[in-house]
Amino acid sequence: MGGRKLNKLLIKGGRPLDGVVSVSGAKNAALPIMCASLLTADHLALTNVPRLMDVATMAKLLAQMGVLLERSEDCDESGMTLRAENLVDPTAPYDLVRTMRASILVLGPLIARCGRAKVSLPGGCAIGQRPVDQHLKGLVAMGTNISVEHGYIHAETSRLHGARILMDLVTVTGTENLMMAATLAEGTTILENAAREPEVLDLANCLVAMGAKIEGAGTDLIRINGVKKLNGAKYSVMPDRIETGTYLAAAAASRGRIRLTGASPRTLDATLQKLREAGAKVECTPDSISLEMQGRPTAVGVRTAPYPGFATDMQAQFMALDAVASGTSVITENIFENRFMHALELQRLGADIAIQGNTAVVRGVDKLQGATVMATDLRASASLVIAGLVAEGETIIDRIYHLDRGYESLEKKLSALGARVQRLA
Ligand code: EPU
Repeated sequence: MGGRKLNKLLIKGGRPLDGVVSVSGAKNAALPIMCASLLTADHLALTNVPRLMDVATMAKLLAQMGVLLERSEDCDESGMTLRAENLVDPTAPYDLVRTMRASILVLGPLIARCGRAKVSLPGGCAIGQRPVDQHLKGLVAMGTNISVEHGYIHAETSRLHGARILMDLVTVTGTENLMMAATLAEGTTILENAAREPEVLDLANCLVAMGAKIEGAGTDLIRINGVKKLNGAKYSVMPDRIETGTYLAAAAASRGRIRLTGASPRTLDATLQKLREAGAKVECTPDSISLEMQGRPTAVGVRTAPYPGFATDMQAQFMALDAVASGTSVITENIFENRFMHALELQRLGADIAIQGNTAVVRGVDKLQGATVMATDLRASASLVIAGLVAEGETIIDRIYHLDRGYESLEKKLSALGARVQRLA
């Protein structure tokens, strides 16, 4: 990159969001789907791939292994073609895994295709410990020898075989890794207590388009019958439900009126229900969502849970909404043990939040005031943007590279909705 680093976002708050904006492809579907390209020597042609830092990091990782990638210049289509004809080095080095934990998603496909892989063990993370024991347990059950040496997972197999795998807890990337590995294993794999997230289903749909035999994706029991080889395919990545939810929460907090196009309302039930509880008028078509909030939102409690429960990736944004709502709400984080870093920053803007363990009690205040705050992770940053949009005066958010990991054209989209936002050095 080099050159000027515009690492801060200046927001002049106090304007309701008003307008129409289009939703990008889902980061957390695009990343595993890009890794699915490792399972075939043919072309995988994707559309609706968001232009994000994490997608660029994944592209770099795959390219290092020998995958040929092409990005189409057509912004409307957001196309990307991947071809893993010759894999030169099935290694995911520390410097890339460190910047993006989703790099672990190469492990299952590499073992299935190459019979071996070397992947840096992801370290700790700003939102929790995030171990990968369930990924490894499943791969061992399918016949992989795994050792961890010098910070790297070394995995090897002569041929993967099907297995019945009961996961101890619901893990999204764990389910995705094992599902991808199982597509080329000998025999049938059954994943029990599988993640039901829409992104898991999107990956499964792409794998099926490539010739995989998968049943039950989107439920907690997935059955995969291994095939000898997968083919290329064309596939369009699902809309980003967390980006969608973030703009909706921002519109609700700022008492605005927006319409999101290219959305997938059926993946957002829990979020839409909570927005309605907060007093928003929400209307959906199969691919758009309109929201209007008249007056002050009402405080809503949320408890995060695996899908179809309320997403942990929407928790921080709802804390910002509750911070200016009328009444008191209780927010319980059940997925990650350290995902309240934004609460301290929201307090700097005048929010009244008390944290005890995995529970936050938020007493809505009449007004937030602009201040300088620090982004700590992707969704925490999104909550600070929402708070900045409703605060009086100027808010400066530092370290917004976190936002670039997961929100495509954030300032452009917010400006189109009438917000006053600007990047600063
Ligand atoms: N866990 C284990 N062992 C494992 C795997 C997970 O103990 O082997 C624990 C985790 O520590 C956590 C819980 O299980 O407490 C759930 O974690 P999960 O594995 O489901 O999370 P993930 O797959 O690493 C994905 C998303 C996250 C999202 C979570 C939960 C991707 C690339 N990332 O992470 O997205 O928060 O699922 O829905 O899909 C984000 O986009 O900002 C983000 C963090």
